[in-house]
Amino acid sequence: MSSEIAFQRCIIPACAATFSVGESLTACRQCGSLLDVVYDWARVPVPKSLAEFEKKWATRRNPLHFSGVWRFKELLNFAPDELVLTIGEGQTLLRSEPEVARYVGLKNVHLQYEGLNPTGSFKDNGMTAGFTHARLVGAQKVACASTGNTSSSLAAFAAASASLDGAQKLEALVFVGSGRIAMGKLAQGLDYGARTIQIVGHFDDAMARVKEVSKSLGIYLLNSVNPFRLEGQKAIMFRVLEMLNWQVPDWIVVPGGNLGNSSAFGKAFCELKELGLIKSLPRLAVINAAGANTLHRLFNERQLRWNGGQYDRAVVDAFYKEMGAEHREANTVASAIEINRPVNLTKCLRSLDWLNGVVTQVDDQEILDAKAIVGRGGIGCEPASAASVAGTKKLVAAGTIGKSDRVVCIITGHQLKAANTTVGYHSLHGEELEHEFRDFGVKRNPFANKPIQVKNDLDDILRVLGGLSHESWDV
Ligand code: F0G
Repeated sequence: MSSEIAFQRCIIPACAATFSVGESLTACRQCGSLLDVVYDWARVPVPKSLAEFEKKWATRRNPLHFSGVWRFKELLNFAPDELVLTIGEGQTLLRSEPEVARYVGLKNVHLQYEGLNPTGSFKDNGMTAGFTHARLVGAQKVACASTGNTSSSLAAFAAASASLDGAQKLEALVFVGSGRIAMGKLAQGLDYGARTIQIVGHFDDAMARVKEVSKSLGIYLLNSVNPFRLEGQKAIMFRVLEMLNWQVPDWIVVPGGNLGNSSAFGKAFCELKELGLIKSLPRLAVINAAGANTLHRLFNERQLRWNGGQYDRAVVDAFYKEMGAEHREANTVASAIEINRPVNLTKCLRSLDWLNGVVTQVDDQEILDAKAIVGRGGIGCEPASAASVAGTKKLVAAGTIGKSDRVVCIITGHQLKAANTTVGYHSLHGEELEHEFRDFGVKRNPFANKPIQVKNDLDDILRVLGGLSHESWDV
């Protein structure tokens, strides 16, 4: 056991090796497993009730109190205040959405809209914590592999690091797959000045290369294998609770890609319970895209479970071996979660165990239909985010989620990230639609809001607006 109030520890109980927070690690040096940031709670001053955190909002001129992550600093207390790098992340909203509730078959449903973050996705929650740790260990260069949101967020934080008094600007290096990155995301990274390496291949290839490059060049890695990133993502759950007046919902439903969120959410709730700040735990539902369904297949078809940390590694190895032999590659319109080998698989299994979780998959048609329904409520999201709504619909229909359960769907990213997909869904039909989405099997757009083509002529415009006559047009 370390003598620090915060330290890093291997997630596998049989190993439980500990390391200082002053070290930059993405895996246990003893056994290679993932690491947690853990706290000696007896020595961390934590408020006696969650409602006490509300007071910080009154002093929001302090950037640490404005931040929707650092307002909860006592629950991620691994660095001194002066090292914190914040860009105003986490001013997000929990909205009750009647149209979505009707669509999924629930009395009520809440959407936690993480698209409101400064770079338009939930990643900013984790990146503020990751950069704070990078500064703690004196990093000068930071890197990640990404399907586009992590890289946008990393690039923005690196750019902002220059504005700190006397602080040296961190240099940003991002690796993205050449084919599938959404335009909005690529644009962000370029605009924020990140050195961008587009490699021919998928996210998994980019991930493998960035790990090698970071190791050989001594660059600080900011993917979600970095345990400090996930500390920041815990705050999404703190804010959900805050908006529910500190009542624990029945379900948290989240899209699953690299499985960082699901890992962080489980840890957040278990820590709150351990601290006596909540009495019950929600259930967790992780939703895979059917075209990138490693977790679904391992959990539901091969019954892979956390099993107190003694999960069956042979099952995972065999699955990946088959995947390689059959050249199976992830393929989904939800490019953010187009991932074959989720890096936080084991932590996610642990969360599913802690939170009595379930996993399901939804196809790309279900994803784009759900996305259009989310949009109708005035909350635009990118395709991956809509997996949480499509998954909720499926789990309600299956009776897994009860009709009067209190459900929170995490809307992970903003609509404008992948605007071309949205425009394609709404404006095309028939063969054109099928052609546009030919790789993903999307053939219908029942919730389309088609733009109306009309000549530049008032009579024509009035005709399409319902046959209004010239005389009744009050100008
Ligand atoms: N939703 C969006 C919009 C994402 O960008 C991601 C992940 C996820 C869901 C999945 O979250 O990894 O915590 O399970 N995007 C990563 C990236 C992979 O590189 O931007 P997860």
